[in-house]
Amino acid sequence: MSESRDSLPVVIVGHVDHGKSTLIGRLLNDTKSLPDGKVDAVKAMCERRGMPFEWAFVMDAFQAERDQGITIDATQIRFSTTQRDYLIIDAPGHREFIKNMITGAASADAAVLVIDAAEGVQRETRRHAFLLHLLGIRQVCVVVNKMDAIEFDQSRFDTVQTEIIAYLASIGVEPSFVIPVCARDGDNVSSASDRVTWYEGPSLTGALDSFAPSASSHLQPLRFPVQDIYKFDDRRIVAGRIESGTLSVGDKLLFSPSNKAARVVSIETWSAPGEPTIATAGSSVGITLDDDLFIERGDMASHEVDAPLETDVFRARIFWLGDEELALGATCRMKFTTLDVPVTVQEVSSIVDTETLEHSAGGGVGRHQVAEVVLRARRVLALDEATEVPRTGRFALVQNYRIVGGGTISMGGYADQRRNITRRATNVVRVEHRIDATERAARAGHRGGVIWLTG
Ligand code: GTP
Ligand code: MG
Repeated sequence: MSESRDSLPVVIVGHVDHGKSTLIGRLLNDTKSLPDGKVDAVKAMCERRGMPFEWAFVMDAFQAERDQGITIDATQIRFSTTQRDYLIIDAPGHREFIKNMITGAASADAAVLVIDAAEGVQRETRRHAFLLHLLGIRQVCVVVNKMDAIEFDQSRFDTVQTEIIAYLASIGVEPSFVIPVCARDGDNVSSASDRVTWYEGPSLTGALDSFAPSASSHLQPLRFPVQDIYKFDDRRIVAGRIESGTLSVGDKLLFSPSNKAARVVSIETWSAPGEPTIATAGSSVGITLDDDLFIERGDMASHEVDAPLETDVFRARIFWLGDEELALGATCRMKFTTLDVPVTVQEVSSIVDTETLEHSAGGGVGRHQVAEVVLRARRVLALDEATEVPRTGRFALVQNYRIVGGGTISMGGYADQRRNITRRATNVVRVEHRIDATERAARAGHRGGVIWLTG
């Protein structure tokens, strides 16, 4: 719980060599968030090997520890300002963020987009910016780095600023700040620079401190995907992680897509003492219910008033990372909350060029392309539109155990059937048979059917 309560997850992106690792190293150092002796150890190592010190090496040292399993928690790079704690998503190697973000292994609420002042906006700058937009990150701060290399020239800064603002505007993102920085020396990282006299805005940490906390996910509709059911004594505990919203003892929960409902009798946590009566987004909990419902992994609990959508077909904007083209009719596995289900590409509506933002008619989706598609799952899923509930509006695509893409869900063009579904009769239930329909038809000599007499 402490993880989600106090820290703002931030992702730091940008074109290769534009200074992301340097900026992170400097952020950690200047906010005194590094373990004692870390920088000295890296400096000594540089001296031994006769190479100049780089802040990026401090990050590499974390990476090495992670590779060797020394620091298990090395992926969790944190720093603190006087205002709050920050969690940098995927800091050390900094290559996995795209995958981590689309799988929901990590979810950032803010982003820093780093641009080299001399090189300006590059291919990856645009691609990453587009991805931030795709993933719904709205709190963006642009850092124009290596200002020392252009002698802190205001007109060059203005050119880069104009260029990136224009690109971001075209995808509907408005950066909260554009900050001239020299990451290497710490100018405008956590304190104002006296070398950039013409700039009057905040330093990077000042800018981040002004961002809204991630607590807003507590205020969203409750989404509690079931991970497992445990039996203790005669109690059945439904366990999972609350992705959004708040759950209280006494709440009536609806489990989708089976559409069964029961009340919460107790909340069991492993971390907090006593018996909590309320649990919020980000916490992993177990609950007991007042009814012995048959619930399975993958069911999604919500409050009836704002239940998730139930559908087996939906629109998605996907980012494709697979080596091979994603073709019409192709099947991959979709990892979504605690589920892993096959989905088929029913339509490739258009391909979006992240450079020019032009849409072209859909054929196959190539590596690193963004596409609007329609996906069909083999079962009904409880899901959300990404604009409404971001955590349960995202998914990852997997082929041969590798993440090959990710995307966000939209239901544009499909009817919302929630009212029909949640009001359906409770005395009509699906039952499983040992004999399937074909076997029965073969034996009986005719197909089965239901004659429904109402009224
Ligand atoms: P990748 O992880 O490879 O994408 O690179 P990166 O974005 O992490 O860049 P990194 O921090 O490794 O920096 C790349 C180079 O730019 C290094 O040689 C840094 O020393 C240099 N650099 C970073 N920040 C600054 C700066 O403010 N001024 C100058 N002059 N050089 C810088
Ligand atoms: Mg780096």
